[in-house]
Amino acid sequence: MKNVLVTGGAGFIGSNFIRYLLRTETNIRILNFDALTYAGNRENLADLEGDPRYRFIQGNICDAAQVDSVIREYQVDTIVHFAAESHVDRSILGPRQFIETNVMGTFTLLDAARNYWLKENVLPLDSVRFHHVSTDEVFGSLKPGEPAWTEETPYAPNSPYAASKAASDHLVRSYGHTYGLPYTITNCSNNYGPYQFPEKLIPLIILNAMDGKPLPVYGDGQQVRDWLHVEDHCEAIHLVLTKGKIGSTYNIGGENQPANLSIVETICDILDEIDSNPAHKPHRRLIQFVKDRPGHDRRYDMDTRKIRAELGWSPRHTLDQGLLDTVRWYLSHPEWVASIRQKHEYEGWLDANYKLR
Ligand code: NAD
Ligand code: TYD
Repeated sequence: MKNVLVTGGAGFIGSNFIRYLLRTETNIRILNFDALTYAGNRENLADLEGDPRYRFIQGNICDAAQVDSVIREYQVDTIVHFAAESHVDRSILGPRQFIETNVMGTFTLLDAARNYWLKENVLPLDSVRFHHVSTDEVFGSLKPGEPAWTEETPYAPNSPYAASKAASDHLVRSYGHTYGLPYTITNCSNNYGPYQFPEKLIPLIILNAMDGKPLPVYGDGQQVRDWLHVEDHCEAIHLVLTKGKIGSTYNIGGENQPANLSIVETICDILDEIDSNPAHKPHRRLIQFVKDRPGHDRRYDMDTRKIRAELGWSPRHTLDQGLLDTVRWYLSHPEWVASIRQKHEYEGWLDANYKLR
């Protein structure tokens, strides 16, 4: 029986990961440890609350006493660490919370794991693992023609979000190097799919387009991200947990790199096809170019040969099919969408980020 502490399991990727784990593993107990910030939604996993393998605990990764007691009480042997402030635009408007959660929170978790696993020796060392979920944004931005980032590329984070994730990656590495904490790290590109909070590009565009609202494209819309379906990310993390080499980092990416404008246009075309409400067609006429994000990274690209060769991972979803499924998901979950929109915070964020653009 594995006792897995998933931090941030009420957020987008964490909730998809818990679903994935419960589908894949039988002999497991999952503790979803989440502070329920604006981005966390317990409802994302409401249908699993009766499963004896799953338990939700509301808690903050910055609270050392609480983290410590949960790890001990449940004899946690595996930590999969998703909890973070995750939105670049929010980090530009208010970086402090990113340092608190992403840096101090990761430090607090690492220290609790070190105390329990390494100082007390209650569990066999070869049975424990700290897996840290990170991002491609730590590598900075690529110029045209520059090669994709490998696991050896030096970090060059540009936004406060990226810098806070880079710092947390370094802390994890240092706990492995100095204290011998068994860890793995994954750096993944932009995820999309069900349950993504609609302030990130893809769900924001889907919901605005469904409502006939403007579709904000920053700058010239020619920035390039690598896009990966969230289930492919979850599968990769599971593989790294079960077969990855201790002390290793793995790049994960979809090898899909359309410009932002092209993503927005594709979503418009999908909605033209499948949304039965004709009022806003053609959706492309809703596209609006707005003031660019300060310090906006131009291009991301991940070299994923290591995880493909070592662990045999490759993405199962094509971007076309994944986007179609994702648009369908948002169309068919009006209650979920309504519950997010009712959060006072959501409208406040849209005003803060878009009104002055
Ligand atoms: P998200 O913003 O949707 O969810 C974050 C979750 O963490 C929320 O449930 C929130 O309540 C919780 N949380 C925040 N602060 C907390 C705290 N102090 N204590 C406990 N819980 C707290 O984020 P996401 O998009 O699911 O990303 C998850 C992880 O994956 C992050 O570490 C992020 O950096 C990383 N990542 C995300 C992407 C992406 O495209 N979304 C890509 C690569 C890596
Ligand atoms: P986002 O989803 O915020 O992810 P990240 O910044 O982590 O890559 O944004 C994806 C891309 O879309 C990024 O280049 C910024 C751009 N973008 C817009 O053009 N308009 C928007 O309203 C948002 C939220 C993002």
